[in-house]
Amino acid sequence: MNTDIIILAAGQGSRMRSKLPKVLHKIGGKSMLQHVIDNASAIAAANQINTHVIVGHKSELVQEVLAGQIIAFALQSEQLGTGHAVAQVLNNLSDTGVSLILYGDVPLTQSSTMQELVDIAKLDQLGLLTVTLANPMGYGRIVRDEHQQVAAIVEQKDASAEQLKIAEINTGIMAVPNKFLRKWISQLGNNNAQGEYYLTDIIAMAAADNVAIITRSPGAEQEVQGVNDKVQLAQLERFYQQQQARQLMLKGATLADPARIDVRGKVTLEGEVFIDVNVIFEGDVVLGEGVSIAANCVIKDARIGANAIIKANTMIEHSSVGELCEVGPYARLRPGTQLATKAKIGNFVETKKALIGEGSKVSHLTYLGDAQIGREVNIGAGTITCNYDGVNKFTTQIGDGAFIGSNSSLVAPVNIGAGATIGAGSTISKDVADKQLSVARGKQVNIKNWQRPVKK
Ligand code: UD1
Ligand code: CA
Repeated sequence: MNTDIIILAAGQGSRMRSKLPKVLHKIGGKSMLQHVIDNASAIAAANQINTHVIVGHKSELVQEVLAGQIIAFALQSEQLGTGHAVAQVLNNLSDTGVSLILYGDVPLTQSSTMQELVDIAKLDQLGLLTVTLANPMGYGRIVRDEHQQVAAIVEQKDASAEQLKIAEINTGIMAVPNKFLRKWISQLGNNNAQGEYYLTDIIAMAAADNVAIITRSPGAEQEVQGVNDKVQLAQLERFYQQQQARQLMLKGATLADPARIDVRGKVTLEGEVFIDVNVIFEGDVVLGEGVSIAANCVIKDARIGANAIIKANTMIEHSSVGELCEVGPYARLRPGTQLATKAKIGNFVETKKALIGEGSKVSHLTYLGDAQIGREVNIGAGTITCNYDGVNKFTTQIGDGAFIGSNSSLVAPVNIGAGATIGAGSTISKDVADKQLSVARGKQVNIKNWQRPVKK
């Protein structure tokens, strides 16, 4: 059976006080709207899922951000209510399937919760997600009859004093067989306190048509929490991060403080790891068995091999770190860095497109860009690969076992042979053969009893 996912994302979200449409604000590095799309796409695979996003405010931008995904957009140029929003896609829904109605600003609804509602709708019933709140202020209330069956939803602004006491509220999330949704939505009017076409009015219609209304509740309140301003955005971000931290701990990560780690993407663990405070992960990160990450590291789209040690204040991006490597403190591995087993990168070292061989050491104050470095090489403090002539980039190659003296400039393109030695302070612009010593600096001149100038 087909499942249509209808995501309401037309609203302006003026309380965000932002140029960005509300649904594009991010939780865990991913837009709220994308969270909804991704969670919905995980509904049982037997379905053919069609995703409809109803856009309005800054619709071009929302569509541009989602470009490349299989999504049907419907434009709601005037926001005349949640029922009016759903009406925009009515003609595009499958005839026999069911629709799940979601909201682009309610980002954390779990796939399993969505699945329960869809399964209810598949049985020709209406599945409604409700929750009982200590403070139901502002929400639509669930009105039940004397048999505790749902009879209607009444909006805050239309509710009687008696109805306002009801603590069970409408989350807005529901699943409905399309044949009924078509009929009911086309019968909606806007004769209410807000002059809007309320989606919620279909509940009374379902009751009148003797269609069973089955309610479910989410596992956590945050699953149905909407975001209206940046305070609520931050609250959901923290909730999301707590969940990420919990997942990591359950998979074997020891976290120095689960409240001080941020995952903006996905972290895959290959074993037990240790993560100290204030570490940020972005994109896709894989951590091998025994990896240890010290405080204040930012690690993005990277693979860290087994038993590698990442010391404090290190940044790693689009790079791979081999087994048993030591990196940092204060190291910066930029895109295209690959460290082989047991390589060592020390403080204030920057690398970019650099392959560094097994056991090689780059311990202090160095820039290696567009470089291929063999095994057991020692790069002295202050070494710079001069990879850029102002127009083009060139490569530096250093053979196995070479020793580069401190404060050397290697002007690319240049090859340093295996076992070669470069004297400290050299500027090397010509190739150096295997095992050769090359010293390229002004010769030292010693003048005895030098008389310094004196003031006249
Ligand atoms: C709605 C429900 C209410 C429920 C609450 C949960 C209705 C009539 N009321 O109220 O029962 O308790 O959500 O948060 O449905 N939107 C559009 N186009 C429109 C109108 C709304 O895309 O024409 C989008 C908004 O951007 C928002 C969502 O739908 O993301 C909900 O709309 P909103 O006006 O905030 O509904 P509420 O008054 O909160
Ligand atoms: Ca709302």
